[in-house]
Amino acid sequence: MSERERAASIEVEGLVKQFKKGPRAVDGIDLHVEPGEIYGFLGPNGAGKSTTVLMLTTLLPPTAGSARVAGWDVAREGARVRESIGAALQEAALDPFLTAREHMRLQTALHGVPKSERVRLGDELIERVGLAEAADRKVKGYSGGMKRRLDLALSLVHGPRILFLDEPTTGLDPQSRASLWEEVERLAREDGVTVFLTTQYLEEADQLANRVGIIDRGQIVAEGTPAALKAQIGEPSLEAVPAEPEQRDAMAAVLAPFASDGDCVHHERGSVGVRLRGGDAALAEVVRALDAADVAVTSLQLHAPTLDDVFLAKTGRSLEGSGDGDGDGEDLDGDRPDGAAARPAGAPA
Ligand SMILES: Nc1ncnc2c1ncn2[C@@H]1O[C@H](COP(=O)(O)OP(=O)(O)O)[C@@H](O)[C@H]1O
Ligand SMILES: [Mg+2]
Repeated sequence: MSERERAASIEVEGLVKQFKKGPRAVDGIDLHVEPGEIYGFLGPNGAGKSTTVLMLTTLLPPTAGSARVAGWDVAREGARVRESIGAALQEAALDPFLTAREHMRLQTALHGVPKSERVRLGDELIERVGLAEAADRKVKGYSGGMKRRLDLALSLVHGPRILFLDEPTTGLDPQSRASLWEEVERLAREDGVTVFLTTQYLEEADQLANRVGIIDRGQIVAEGTPAALKAQIGEPSLEAVPAEPEQRDAMAAVLAPFASDGDCVHHERGSVGVRLRGGDAALAEVVRALDAADVAVTSLQLHAPTLDDVFLAKTGRSLEGSGDGDGDGEDLDGDRPDGAAARPAGAPA
């Protein structure tokens, strides 16, 4: 690996954090994040995401294991690590009585940006995160999204090669979320910045991350590209609702031969679900079989596997609604186009 590449990578082995009189919040994780990659660390509340980020940003000493960030050891070369990274953490450390421009002036000075450069750089970053109009207003009047964007701008002052973002879009409205995604993608694509981002949102991990690590109870339960993870789950599931509720059993009998596991699942909403062997291609045949058996159908939906199915398969629980759950995900997941908010058919209960 070249010097430049090493300077943008994250290497973690057997990392553990055992809190005194607390949980083993991080329970032996390995991570390899490539330079220029957007790595999504996905998990429910309390999974250990923030604790991991705090260790990788040198703010919390690990109990065991090792981590190199930008080639530097987090435990022994903390100052070097801090020079190389930018971080926007869950608790943004903003002063409510300062404006965005004043925050920028402080941060640029703190990082030794030459005086003649400070104003230009500050204005450029404020502009880039879309805060130009609010630049001279005090932070106490900012929305949550504006604070997250200012925090991101502050983390970029010293031109870091690696960026840590801890749940950067939690609690944001869809528009603020989209503009933050855009900026993160731009940083990775144009500036080659490596991004380590934690999230509890499936959609965020799915769309933004090149690679996803799913963490649960301090352990990584799955890792890979979103496509590869979903492919592990395999076939999509089919959910059908009979026109006559009494025909549910008849419908199940027709669908059973199409199920990859030979099993139909009866849903509470009166529908029947199967993990569809052969995927989309089998759909026409299913329709013909239902027709031949005189089972009228009111709805027939194909659900592509989601990252939630991956989580479910690995942990036996659904990502949504596990952990403490703060409800922030609701508005986002309600409008997922594939209708995947429903529990997939054929999944273990
Ligand atoms: N300073 C601390 N002392 C004791 N327990 C902690 C501390 N910080 C976090 N924890 C616990 O460690 C677990 C992981 O927390 P955290 O890393 O914040 O999860 P996440 O960011 O994924 O929501 C949780 O059970 C949490 O209550
Ligand atoms: Mg957290």
